[in-house]
Amino acid sequence: MDDRRGKFISFEGGDGVGKTTQINLACRHVKKLGFRPVVTREPGGTMLSEKIRDLVLESSAEVTPVTEVLMMFAARAQHTSEVIEPNLAAGKWVLCDRFTDASYAYQGGGRGLPDELIGVLAEIATNGLEPDLTLLLDLDVEEGVRRSHLRDSPLDRFESEAIEFKNRIRTAYLRRQDHHSTRIVLVDASRSIQEIEIEIAKQISDLQARPDG
Ligand code: TYD
Repeated sequence: MDDRRGKFISFEGGDGVGKTTQINLACRHVKKLGFRPVVTREPGGTMLSEKIRDLVLESSAEVTPVTEVLMMFAARAQHTSEVIEPNLAAGKWVLCDRFTDASYAYQGGGRGLPDELIGVLAEIATNGLEPDLTLLLDLDVEEGVRRSHLRDSPLDRFESEAIEFKNRIRTAYLRRQDHHSTRIVLVDASRSIQEIEIEIAKQISDLQARPDG
């Protein structure tokens, strides 16, 4: 086991911004720097959390906003204690497709739940764990919808929501970035895959160079 704790990097943004592509490219960069990356996602990342993911994303029955936020945090609690914390403690770098910021954006901005409630749940579920770096991929909502429709997979409950819902999510993400501008880096996702990759690689190299603590 390494004696130094690994770094925790999350990737955020609305649907269709290209997170998956960029996480895979970032993983290669982390390896090149000589660290062992673990790629995971939310909701999901453990057997139980993936089951919760299926329930919350695919449910055809109505899900209340409170039920939804509790399911997101139930998945996150398990994921944090089973995957994220042990890997960080073992010196690995954890690259996570979404984390608590997604709940502020989707359940807060999108569904209208208060930030205070989400903050309390984050304390309970993750002991207030925050990523060392969050890359917020920001894209015009209409363009994100267009890209989501290009994929083969059927749209989930969130992807099928109205444009107003998606605009509220984008606004909530941007507000969060504004309030946590040291941790959350805004990445213009309208550019080419390669341009975005270069910017993210630079952010990751800067994180590595940062003194611990
Ligand atoms: P994602 O894995 O990005 O979807 P995709 O399969 O398209 O890559 O995220 C799944 C959905 O879950 C996404 O629409 C956002 C939503 N979500 C929340 O509403 N709250 C949360 O806390 C998280 C982590 C995700």
